[in-house]
Amino acid sequence: MSPFATEVHDAAAEARAAGLDPARLPRHLAIIMDGNGRWASRQGWERFFGHRRGADTVRAITTACVRLGIPRLTLYAFSSENWQRPAREVAVLMELLVEYLARELPTLHEQQIRLCAIGRLERLPATAQAALRAAIAATAGYRRMVLTLALSYGGRAELVDACRELARRVAAGELDPEEIDEARLGAALYDGEEVDLVIRTAGEQRLSNFLLWQTAYAEFISHPALWPEFTVADFHACLREYQRRERRFGRV
Ligand code: FPP
Repeated sequence: MSPFATEVHDAAAEARAAGLDPARLPRHLAIIMDGNGRWASRQGWERFFGHRRGADTVRAITTACVRLGIPRLTLYAFSSENWQRPAREVAVLMELLVEYLARELPTLHEQQIRLCAIGRLERLPATAQAALRAAIAATAGYRRMVLTLALSYGGRAELVDACRELARRVAAGELDPEEIDEARLGAALYDGEEVDLVIRTAGEQRLSNFLLWQTAYAEFISHPALWPEFTVADFHACLREYQRRERRFGRV
């Protein structure tokens, strides 16, 4: 049953029930979904079962964000470095992406989620590119939440691509180098939207080349749960921790 069908959903009441201040939720949340492989190994299974179970967590946490009224969620689904994994694991992840898009499209419609993707998407297999393009086009009109999948994504590559774009405009005589400032560089990124909170599961404490520019002033929370076992209750605990922090942005 849809979480929205039988009720006039009250996001603020839901936040308060989870011990959260609805006015101080992150506007842009980014998640590094780590620990799929470890989770599968602990069950004695092959790594890709962890990715499959991880896709279920994606669904649960996306819905939790919509229910709280968090307007932007960016998920690190496949990094530039992940291309170096065994070919079979890469193939399974790409198949899973296509399967996820087919399975979740009705939910994206129902929850009015706009799907976006960032990264060097041209490296993805043609089937994945086509499925992505179709889901992005089908959901382009929704405004309730933006769900961005970072795929074949690297933060340094994003900065390189932005620099190339600005350099092309300078070479074409459209832009004076002196006019390049933080706003122009930010606008040349795949998506320069400032991130408020990064959550990384599996207890790791690294950014791993994720949204390097956008996370300049983000809070970082590492949670010990492996991504396939990360629950909505764990997620709410991370948000409570975020709300306990004082964000000063370099000021006193
Ligand atoms: C990191 O775990 C996770 C990934 C490299 C892939 C993330 C993919 C998913 C959660 C499933 C698919 C999601 C979508 C949106 C289609 P790891 O394999 O590095 O885990 P480990 O550190 O325990 O080995």
